[in-house]
Amino acid sequence: MALILREAGCVQSGELKHPIFFNLPRSSGEPTMKQETQTTISGSAGAHGEIGLRVAWSGTAMTTQELDAALGDVWDRQTNKDIPPQRDFARTGPGTLAGRLLRKAWQPVYIAGDLKAGWPRAIKVLGEEITLYRGEGGKAFAVGGRCAHRGLLLSTGMVEGDSIRCAYHGWKYNGTGKCVAQPAEPQLNDKIKIPSYPVYEYLGLLFIYMGDGDPPEPPQFKPFEQSGIIANFLIDCPWNYFQHLENAVDETHLAFLHDRSVYQAVNFAVPRIEIEETGFGFAQYGIRNGNLKRRKYVHMPNMTAWPQPPLHPQEKAWREMLGWRVPVDDRRHITIGVAHHHVDEKDIVSFVESIKEERSRLQKLSKPEMLAMAVLTGKVRSADVELRDPPSDMTMIQDFYAMIGQGAIADRVHENLGSADEGIVTLRKLYEREMTALLEGRPLTVWENTIPMPHPGELPK
Ligand code: FES
Ligand SMILES: [Fe+2]
Repeated sequence: MALILREAGCVQSGELKHPIFFNLPRSSGEPTMKQETQTTISGSAGAHGEIGLRVAWSGTAMTTQELDAALGDVWDRQTNKDIPPQRDFARTGPGTLAGRLLRKAWQPVYIAGDLKAGWPRAIKVLGEEITLYRGEGGKAFAVGGRCAHRGLLLSTGMVEGDSIRCAYHGWKYNGTGKCVAQPAEPQLNDKIKIPSYPVYEYLGLLFIYMGDGDPPEPPQFKPFEQSGIIANFLIDCPWNYFQHLENAVDETHLAFLHDRSVYQAVNFAVPRIEIEETGFGFAQYGIRNGNLKRRKYVHMPNMTAWPQPPLHPQEKAWREMLGWRVPVDDRRHITIGVAHHHVDEKDIVSFVESIKEERSRLQKLSKPEMLAMAVLTGKVRSADVELRDPPSDMTMIQDFYAMIGQGAIADRVHENLGSADEGIVTLRKLYEREMTALLEGRPLTVWENTIPMPHPGELPK
């Protein structure tokens, strides 16, 4: 048993001494296209017992305005404005049905280790502004984005104990959002309160609950707490979250979009799809060559789990991945999650070296977003994008132009689904079922708070 988990202050437990943590940090506010891709490697395996790898994929470092300018009509395809509310999966702001459904689940919103004590962060989730901060004692809090006095972003303020003080006139809020100090006022108005949200820290991620009433059981993925290496990732994605969820259950695209990628190593033929509804959502099996099953799980409402081929010789099995698609607003989302690498303790140091080397080689290649944008704007053919060496971010490039090429919000009216799209049909069916229940005031399904491992753990023959 060994848990490798880096949290704030490099908490670790279990037997392994070298937690590895690499992520794709989110930017504050809308980043610009000029932002450099950066790889910073800190720590050392031997001396500190900590390795931190930070990898920014600037493929998402484009503002919505820049995408509008670059892509024009390709990007603006919001033709599903008039669909019935229970089928409007894309819009998730306050009061929308899909937004209410997503608010009923714990949502991961930040890499736990990136939230330093005393350094508040402004984020946006489901169209709402939120301030994340870690109190001086290490506990994380999520409160509203702005001060109730005159609306300054609270992220510019100061953390004091477990409270946060606005930088403008010093109003202070505790972790429940209650205003506890208004220094320039003769008397405290103790009715002032800003929103606050429960926070749950797990597998290197910060989850918040934005719904009404008591939160459900928080997610628990026991196999990820056992042997292996846990790594986190966070990618800003400038398109609607539901396209990413649909892409995740679109098993057949591996054989086409990703024919030149990490997946080509396993001769992925066009699969036959089987779907099984479960207590957590549904399982999808892609059956290839008669017997090879690639399993994928959808943990309702917005997490998918999938196996991914290993890229380093130290990895003795496929990786398991957990990925949530969490709306920032209706035209952007984050993909945030956990990768579980199967590496023996004796191989950890060389595994880390291998990852560093992979990252430094990626730095020398064309930036993924530039290749994707070149395809989207017709400057190069998709077939001209050669398999990179290493091929690690090839699927990102391909998925980027595939998903953003559907538009900021995909058109689900003028499409023609086939039998191979059963995963997408099932996903939409479950969403519609739950959103109809919300519309009619009926209770929602209580989903199990866990899933099985997405792969049995051995390399396919
Ligand atoms: S705006 Fe925050 S204290 Fe005045
Ligand atoms: Fe893909």
